[in-house]
Amino acid sequence: MIQIAIDGPGGAGKSTVSKAVAAKLGIVYVDTGALYRTIGLYVKQAGIDPKDTEAVVKCLPDISIEIRYIDGKQCVFLNGTDHGDAIRTPEMSMYASAVSAIPEVRTFLLDTQRDIARKNSVIMDGRDIGTVILPDAQLKIYLTASEECRARRRYDELVAKGQNVRFEDVLAEMNQRDKQDSSRAVAPATAAEDAILLDNTDLDFDGTVNAIVELAIKTGLVD
Ligand code: DC
Repeated sequence: MIQIAIDGPGGAGKSTVSKAVAAKLGIVYVDTGALYRTIGLYVKQAGIDPKDTEAVVKCLPDISIEIRYIDGKQCVFLNGTDHGDAIRTPEMSMYASAVSAIPEVRTFLLDTQRDIARKNSVIMDGRDIGTVILPDAQLKIYLTASEECRARRRYDELVAKGQNVRFEDVLAEMNQRDKQDSSRAVAPATAAEDAILLDNTDLDFDGTVNAIVELAIKTGLVD
């Protein structure tokens, strides 16, 4: 089984790039952020403060999360329902970041992530994939870019989806979330010691995809 771990801060292009690499290599793409976003959505719907650790932990037994691939697209089912793009709003980004700092939430999602990698060759993106979820991944990449560049990409993405946002707000929220994710006590967002740093500030989408495919070839994962 192939295991490629992609970690890095927000806006580096982890998900779009990983999806394209998965298609090129014929392996499964796993977006782990979607799992934390889905827990965030449940917490919001339940009217719980995502920073209230006790309340969030208490509701975990009521949550069932399942990943299914429909027409090759990853769908996350929350208690039997796929909420689609409702997990993709800036508000849900902050909810996801808050609940992801709770150790019990991370433990709750551990098996779901490892299970997929046990059964399929994967490229999995997140914050702790190379360090915690798939420590034996054959290829680990820490994908990053300058702050300005990452915020610009996120802004363009949100605007393309029809969301009414300001660049300054996107930049501030991105920085706040990255700080929160990298300073939490459990599984902080960081590069694994054996990860390859890939800064794509000056690379376009295809350039980044090709760089990762080349690394996979160099590592002997594919011909
Ligand atoms: O990748 P994303 O923006 O969809 O992730 C949303 C949040 O989920 C992110 O701010 C931190 C958390 N997360 C995490 O803690 N560990 C992961 N492997 C993936 C995401």
